Amino acid sequence: MQEFFDPSFNITHYALGDVQSTNDDAFRLGDETGAERLFVTAKRQLAGRGRRGRPWISEEGNLYASLFQRCPAPIEKCAELSFVAALSLQQALATALPEHVEKFALKWPNDVLLNDAKIAGLLLEARGEGDTLSIVIGMGVNCLHSPKDTPYPATNLKQHSINLKPDALFALLKHRLLKNVELWSKGCNFSIIRKQWLERAVGLGEPIIVRLDNDQFEGTFQDLDDEGHLVLGLSRGKVKRITAGDVFFPHQIP
Ligand code: BTN
Repeated sequence: MQEFFDPSFNITHYALGDVQSTNDDAFRLGDETGAERLFVTAKRQLAGRGRRGRPWISEEGNLYASLFQRCPAPIEKCAELSFVAALSLQQALATALPEHVEKFALKWPNDVLLNDAKIAGLLLEARGEGDTLSIVIGMGVNCLHSPKDTPYPATNLKQHSINLKPDALFALLKHRLLKNVELWSKGCNFSIIRKQWLERAVGLGEPIIVRLDNDQFEGTFQDLDDEGHLVLGLSRGKVKRITAGDVFFPHQIP
């Protein structure tokens, strides 16, 4: 394990080799060090986790990073951090690859797309409550590898002839994310994050399909509300607010 202290943000980055999941190591190191916040990256994950209980295949060559934060805000505001992180991922990629900036977009709730295929995802996990609450935001970016046969198409930077090393991307992401967490200001400025997220969102005003565990809704992607819910316009002027699910576009449904 290597440790790097960044005095400008007063944060330590722990760079690990093979791990089960960087989210687990972030919680563990948070407990062991007592730090307010810290970063963990790993070369490879043997039990990487995705959203909604899915595995996240984690071969060497991609970026696997987690930010641990102790009690960053009241629990009901913490889910907003996933939009802060998705925006930061998109901005870091756009900064690293200015010639491709138009190709990176955000898909609700917190995927980053490159030319309409998923290039990055994130998983926010919470432990404890009240004063003992801690949050980990785990982020994965497909630099070299991406899974095949996923419900939503996935891609990687190499497929687009883009050569960006995980370490170089992490340096930009770390800076962006810490700046955006500061801007978010424990949720007081979620409206700024929401606006920036919406500027980069795919499918706004368009027909979408939202799949939940045992249900599916079709409608128009109207908005992201001020709690991060997807606002889906249904027939006869009805509106449904969705907290968790997977978004698809009609041309992707066989
Ligand atoms: C998703 O889109 O399903 C979320 C993927 C999150 C993957 C990252 S990789 C780093 C961190 N550690 C994990 O086990 N998961 C997250």
